[in-house]
Amino acid sequence: MRIVLGVGGGIAAYKVASLLRLFTEAGHDVTVIPTEASTRFIGTATWEALSGNPVSNSVFDDVHLVNHVRLGHEADLVVVAPATADLLAKAATGQAGDLLTNTLLMAHGPVLFAPAMHTEMWQHAATRANVETLRSRGAAVLEPASGRLTGADSGPGRLPEPQVIFEAAMALVQGQSDYQLPLAGRIVTISAGGTREPLDPVRFLGNRSSGKQGVALAVAARNAGATVRLLAAHMDVPPPAGVEVVRVETALQLRAAALDAAARSDVVIMSAAVADFRPAEVSDTKIKKRDDTADPVISLVRNPDILQELVEQRNSGPAGSGQLIVGFAAETGDSQGDVLAYAEAKLRRKGCDLLVVNHVGTDKVFGQDSNSVVILSRSGSEPQEASGTKTEVSEAIIGRISFELNHVSPRA
Ligand code: CTP
Repeated sequence: MRIVLGVGGGIAAYKVASLLRLFTEAGHDVTVIPTEASTRFIGTATWEALSGNPVSNSVFDDVHLVNHVRLGHEADLVVVAPATADLLAKAATGQAGDLLTNTLLMAHGPVLFAPAMHTEMWQHAATRANVETLRSRGAAVLEPASGRLTGADSGPGRLPEPQVIFEAAMALVQGQSDYQLPLAGRIVTISAGGTREPLDPVRFLGNRSSGKQGVALAVAARNAGATVRLLAAHMDVPPPAGVEVVRVETALQLRAAALDAAARSDVVIMSAAVADFRPAEVSDTKIKKRDDTADPVISLVRNPDILQELVEQRNSGPAGSGQLIVGFAAETGDSQGDVLAYAEAKLRRKGCDLLVVNHVGTDKVFGQDSNSVVILSRSGSEPQEASGTKTEVSEAIIGRISFELNHVSPRA
């Protein structure tokens, strides 16, 4: 497929190098047209090297090839990223001052804009009107992601992740002109990893959770268009790019972070392994081994059940209905019941909307790269099995969450 990739003059232009890579690795022939302003951020040499095609932003280069007409005509797809407020305005009013705007006027195939700008610019009535105009003419304009912007400010206006733009572009070419990513505009909070409960300044009670499943979920939710907040307890893997990370250590810290984030979330996924108990006392100084006293005994107290509290405090959430709350259960069967029977009882007890059930043995789940789960739903639909790599399982879980959010009635 022939793709024209227009690059606008915003700091997010650097992320478009990854988008270009995704297109070329998928076998597409990409011609990059950077605006003059964008070359202050990324030079044309980068685009030439990565695309393998000559790059120009002037209608007066290679005039004999009539590029200002040809590129738009021949493109199967035109993608503009980052689409700045200025570029959206020029496209909406049909301006043709440079090679990119000429190409947009000559485009025969689908056109996708991936906006990036400061929140106030995105929300300004002028930009809203320009976006409406472009959409009414059949162009696809993605919703920008929310999060930290160039300065200290944050809000909607971040360029969607390259993977998100790529997927939207492919869907557009397949004829889904009203395509929106399934979690576009949604805020998803995910807890991941294992909590650590201190005994003294150097020792803690912990667990074997690696955080891989939570991180894979964060990636899948991000790729589905969500704004993701990752509440990261101890993890063996780094958090992914493009998500907001809140570090926590103990169950109590995770509880505070989760309850705070939930109020602003559409979905909360509790994939962290939370310690059910913590030492009743935490010594300020390192506990010494001494020959003259008895061996120390550690007394434990119960930690709050965060999942249950989230369910109890479920409020209206940004989407106007209660948050969709997803729990995880690591279950083993025994003589009194099988894994699914225990998991169904846990789903009812905890009151969450979805329960992702892992069947555990000593060598399963923790730290492994693959997984096999059953997803149980409070809405009464059939249990859904998913297995494969943690990435594949996460995509299935996020797919199910999107389905519940978009097609199942509001939660109480
Ligand atoms: N969880 C939680 N707060 C806790 C313990 C667990 O929010 N203090 C969450 C986990 O993140 C997970 C779910 O509850 O999503 C299930 O955890 P699990 O340990 O399997 O269930 P328990 O309630 O501890 O049940 P049991 O130990 O009786 O199997």
